[in-house]
Amino acid sequence: MGKITAAITGIAGYAPDYILTNEELSKMVDTTDEWIMTRIGIKERRILKGEGKGTSDIATQAVLELLRKTKTHPDEIDMLICGIVTPDMQFPATANIISDKVGIKNAFGYDLNAGCSSFIYALVTASKFIESGTHKKVIVVGADKMSSITDYTDRATCPIFGDGAGAVLLEPCKDGFGVIDSLMKVDGSGRKYLHQVAGGSMYPASIETVNKRQHYIYQEGQPVFKAAVSNMADTAVEMMNRNNLTPENLAWLVPHQANMRIIEATGNRMGLSKDKVMINIQKYGNTTSATIPLCLWEWESQLRKGDNLILATFGAGFTWGAVYLKWAYDGDKVK
Ligand code: UT7
Repeated sequence: MGKITAAITGIAGYAPDYILTNEELSKMVDTTDEWIMTRIGIKERRILKGEGKGTSDIATQAVLELLRKTKTHPDEIDMLICGIVTPDMQFPATANIISDKVGIKNAFGYDLNAGCSSFIYALVTASKFIESGTHKKVIVVGADKMSSITDYTDRATCPIFGDGAGAVLLEPCKDGFGVIDSLMKVDGSGRKYLHQVAGGSMYPASIETVNKRQHYIYQEGQPVFKAAVSNMADTAVEMMNRNNLTPENLAWLVPHQANMRIIEATGNRMGLSKDKVMINIQKYGNTTSATIPLCLWEWESQLRKGDNLILATFGAGFTWGAVYLKWAYDGDKVK
């Protein structure tokens, strides 16, 4: 009997309707389309509008679409993990809220926050439940409403982020498809360069924290950039080496979409031509936990059973890593 692996058997995504263009941003802060395109590579991003709407509203759309596409009844789902940085509330977990909104009642689940690496961390965690045999249908959703913590008076951060969600269904497989290998890392000393100062137990919300704008993203771009370029590529290359993957037999790199220059540097270190790298940063910006599943969703029709994929990420924490995945179905046959 073959080893049980966790295969992705369906994928769905959702991005809110409102499009925030570079042109509109350049009326809000001192920036230009040219600067943003050259330094980051983003043309536009999606924003969730509406009073009282949170990340669960975006995630719910992706999960409902996933259930429809995979013809899965909510009662069949036995676990849902939500990779997320911008939960609806401090508690309860957004995974619970999503489950309630889509009618999942027989599952357990929780949120997992690993900065921009949250989706991959959640995917690797979920795959262990499948491999152990305890769970059979697990949803991993990566979702964020980054606009809720983005300071639209700070030109150094506000062009970067956008809102979105992507979700995958994981099921047991005995034919060698799915998550084959992973390498995840944490370096907490990097936290000083990218974090949200207030709103946690250290600096609970107060008039002072609000006045100091401490509920927004704090980022020192250059140290984050340097760490992202070297660490994301290092783990992706190690993933290739230890699984005998080459630029020829690797079908796709699915990188976290933080900056076009980081994506290109990672692809170059892996020896890949640009046509093997999924890139949609120009359309969605950095949607944090949603970037990788949004790519898989958009490229689904081009994915073939047996394709070798490397998913690679870097985020706040610092967190980073890479996953080697063997795609389990022909994407063009999915309706
Ligand atoms: O997903 C989580 C991980 N996050 C990341 O991966 C982000 C990594 N970092 C980056 O992507 C880049 O560092 C940024 C895109 C954030 C910034 O790009 P940079 O090339 O590192 O620019 P910089 O911060 O060094 O700024 C260069 C100049 C500065 O002006 P001076 O001091 O040279 O006169 C900034 O004030 O660009 C200026 N600047 C801008 N100019 C026009 C910063 N933001 C803007 C802007 N428009 N939006």
